[in-house]
Amino acid sequence: MADDAPSETPIEDFVRIDALPDHDGESVTLKGWLHNKRGSKSLYFLILRDGSGYVQCVVSEGDVNEASWAAADNASQETALAITGTVSADDRAPGGYEMQVDAVETIGDSDGYPITPKEHGIDFLMNRRHLWLRSESQWAVLRVRNRVQKAIHDFFQDRGFLQTDAPVLTGNAVEGTSTLFELDYFDDESAYLTQSGQLHGEAMAMAFGKIYTFGPTFRAEKSKTRRHLTEFWMIEPEMAFYDLDMNMTLAERFVSHIVQDVLEHCERELETLERDTTALQQVDTPFPRISYDEAVELLRSESTAQLIDQRIEALHEEQAELETERAENQKRRGQAKKHIKRQIDAREIEINKRINEIEEALRNLPDWKESAQTFEWGSDFGGSDETVLTWHFDRPIIVHRFPAKIKAFYMKRDPHDDRLALGMDVLAPEGYGEIVGGGERATDLDFLQEQIEAHGLPEEAFDWYLDLRKFGAVPHSGFGLGLERVVSWICGREHVREAIPFPRTIGRLHP
Ligand code: 4AD
Ligand code: MG
Repeated sequence: MADDAPSETPIEDFVRIDALPDHDGESVTLKGWLHNKRGSKSLYFLILRDGSGYVQCVVSEGDVNEASWAAADNASQETALAITGTVSADDRAPGGYEMQVDAVETIGDSDGYPITPKEHGIDFLMNRRHLWLRSESQWAVLRVRNRVQKAIHDFFQDRGFLQTDAPVLTGNAVEGTSTLFELDYFDDESAYLTQSGQLHGEAMAMAFGKIYTFGPTFRAEKSKTRRHLTEFWMIEPEMAFYDLDMNMTLAERFVSHIVQDVLEHCERELETLERDTTALQQVDTPFPRISYDEAVELLRSESTAQLIDQRIEALHEEQAELETERAENQKRRGQAKKHIKRQIDAREIEINKRINEIEEALRNLPDWKESAQTFEWGSDFGGSDETVLTWHFDRPIIVHRFPAKIKAFYMKRDPHDDRLALGMDVLAPEGYGEIVGGGERATDLDFLQEQIEAHGLPEEAFDWYLDLRKFGAVPHSGFGLGLERVVSWICGREHVREAIPFPRTIGRLHP
């Protein structure tokens, strides 16, 4: 339980698993669902989960009455149970505590729960997302998400930012017109689901100085990638009197605050996910800053080509080692005892999974190299370009000053080079790519009017926005951080869809 939980009379007539350390040696009742069960004849080990954690409950036939024994005996995966017993510290137990059970009561049956401990395909799991949320890996990911959300609020609240919310229904595009979700808004007016709260955030920054919005945003992304959702949550700070440099400094402090906070508070979750946290430990300010021009040069460089070649070589080696291990395991399996066989089979699943990943990477890397080497100034970085760029550094990097042509209408131009916009992106390492996009905003009224026209946007819809340039316009900046991108990076998940309870993608609106 949170260290700073208020001490007040409890509402619940049961104890939550994360509070067991406060009840060592006491008799308590837990309420939850059966996660796993081992044992037979006269002894059961029930792993109970209640959302706050997992605990092993030891039921001995001799210690409980007949009804309790029958309840333990009948319980299957996801049966809801109330279990009463004595708590004891046990270093070997996951979570550090276990329970010697005195009574078991069934609250809700569960027959034929579809998600079993075996490997299921991703579509199978996504179709049952409403149940998959109960699995340990998803429990861990969404608890990290919760911690990230708390870290975000703490960061801004501690620094004098006001949280203000932007509307979800809007009359204007923010990030181009190609990804708008359009809907009927009464008579004949068009409305859209917002792509970003930024423009309203700018109005609120002029009212409150430093603000942040934290809400759902929507993009009709037609591409299926591991980084795109159609509904995602974005945190958008906007600051009056901030230039691009100040904005970048805030962004790097913000990202490292989130990562360090999760490392500190979600050790158990990251362990559950088997996340190697080496790269996360490195996330400290300052982040390397490179201009778009420098990034292009780096992409095309000989050293990038070498890095890619080294990757290819390392992957070939790893593949060969895994294949040898697999063959040796198969040889051993024939004579092995049952429990060793089980270990070998479990390892085989892991090996096959990794080999599939390696094979896919080996198929892709030549294209990545080609894309990097032939990258043309003026184009936007693709996912692979971002990944390759970050290989040169040991932490997230910031790329700034992009060609204005590939950026939104509201960006301020670089006073030293009119082709460039004062935008910046934070790229996460380990292949996760862009997690933050933002920049300094244009303040010149005429320039913005031109840009709105040049981007084919209807000027009427931006009248209110242009007012901000008529009445006390000041330099200002801000950025947006994609919550699911950050959560999937910190958790080391392959795809953003696991970083949100109910993902929405081009092919998925249910459950
Ligand atoms: O770079 P983007 O498009 O920037 C904006 O929307 C600005 N208006 C933000 C601002 O300056 N206030 O999006 C910001 C971030 C991206 O870096 C990425 O992390 C996330 O939002 N993002 C997505 N996440 C998941 N699925 C998608 N389809 C996303 N599109 C953007
Ligand atoms: Mg962007």
